[in-house]
Amino acid sequence: MMTQQFPEDFLWGAASAAYQIEGAATTDGKGPSIWDTFVQQPGKTKNGTTGELAVDHYHRFHEDVALMAQAGLKAYRFSIAWSRILPDGEGVVNQAGIQFYSDLIDDLLQHGIQPVVTLYHWDLPQALQDRYNGWESRALIPLFERYCHILFEAFGDRVTYWVTFNEQNVFTSLGYRWASHPPNVSNVKRMYAANHVINLANATAINLFHKLVPNGSIGPSFGYGYVAPESAHPLDILAAHDANQLNNDWWLDVYCRGQYPQKILTLLQQLNLAFDITDADQALLKSAKPDFIGINYYHGGTVKRPAVNQQPTADKSFTKIDPYLMAADTQDDSLESHLFQSVSNPYLEKTEWGWEIDPIGFQIALRTVYERYQLPIFVTENGLGAFDTLTADRQINDDYRINYLNDHLLQLQAAIAAGVPVIGYCAWSFTDLLSWLNGYSKRYGFVYIDRDDHDAKQLTRIPKKSFYWYQNVIQNNGESL
Ligand code: NOJ
Repeated sequence: MMTQQFPEDFLWGAASAAYQIEGAATTDGKGPSIWDTFVQQPGKTKNGTTGELAVDHYHRFHEDVALMAQAGLKAYRFSIAWSRILPDGEGVVNQAGIQFYSDLIDDLLQHGIQPVVTLYHWDLPQALQDRYNGWESRALIPLFERYCHILFEAFGDRVTYWVTFNEQNVFTSLGYRWASHPPNVSNVKRMYAANHVINLANATAINLFHKLVPNGSIGPSFGYGYVAPESAHPLDILAAHDANQLNNDWWLDVYCRGQYPQKILTLLQQLNLAFDITDADQALLKSAKPDFIGINYYHGGTVKRPAVNQQPTADKSFTKIDPYLMAADTQDDSLESHLFQSVSNPYLEKTEWGWEIDPIGFQIALRTVYERYQLPIFVTENGLGAFDTLTADRQINDDYRINYLNDHLLQLQAAIAAGVPVIGYCAWSFTDLLSWLNGYSKRYGFVYIDRDDHDAKQLTRIPKKSFYWYQNVIQNNGESL
């Protein structure tokens, strides 16, 4: 039993994202997003699954909020679909979209649940991709600013916590490097260029927020994974240091200090991957400071020194496309291959989707981020994707999820005891939802969504065993962990 308790006002929560739960893809004037379009392409998602219906949260949010209240949630993180507010990304505001989120926020507040709003969780309006080439164009910065302005004005008096971009590291690498997310591009130079534009949009939104909602708090949610060396050999330790620079500091230094790590910038220049940074860009990045850092934690990584002559011999047991680690397992002249090679960690078990399970890495992540940036941390995601089985008497005994969450929360508690100020913890996710590429069989929720029963449209909500476990944890503020 740890002596340090969770703070009295700790925000026990759960998280979701618009495309993964709402459905109602064309309802009430919503415009198409790049995800609506991308999933229509054959072979892009497992069995062609889409978010057209998702878990129909759009029509069932009252029922979902009632369940959140039953669980005792203190916070609920959700994202706003830009193309519900502005169907073509700019132009006319869709009042029905504003109304939907307004009603959701009111419902949450009436149940004593703090809304935590994500401004961008990957679903760019398709019109902005078509018209401007999406995030590769600086034209998106004022357009994002206007979208944020509309939301800050509409909800700033009711919503305290805001997230700018969700996992910028993940959506830029999957979208622009691995072509496994929209906009389906495979070009590292374009990835870095788009990433810079997004950094500028992030800074612009934060500055606007501080003007319009001075009493609120805003920050990005970053997919953080601490990278460890495979051995104590100094070259492996150096490789891990560089991998942390590339995978973590590359983004967090910009968010929190307004500058890119020089080592990586220099390497980008040498490899002809550099992008334009003007004096005005530098000033903008320096001017915007988040109020907290959102951390999404799933797993970290392990690396060893780069192969001699930059000809890496890949450890093929390591998944090539890893959302949380720029994996250096290619034979090409990739940036990573100059710095490190990714390897599996033999000490860690893996989930059914091959993600390492590393609760201690969570404590290391939280402490490292706080020690480096000295900003409060909001854990905006953490959870286990698994196959769940509905028993004959319609129960889900997900002890594996309970164990996973319990182990991670103990490490979170240890980080708090080590002095890290943590605002709250949002488990991913509240209900089961669409896993971007994996369809509906990879489940994360406290609430099972029965889509295999007689009629997929019934989407019956069934609280899992983990739901009652979390309810108890919240009730005793973590004492039962
Ligand atoms: C992080 C993303 O923000 C979320 O959308 C996703 O479903 C989870 N990771 C699980 O992969």
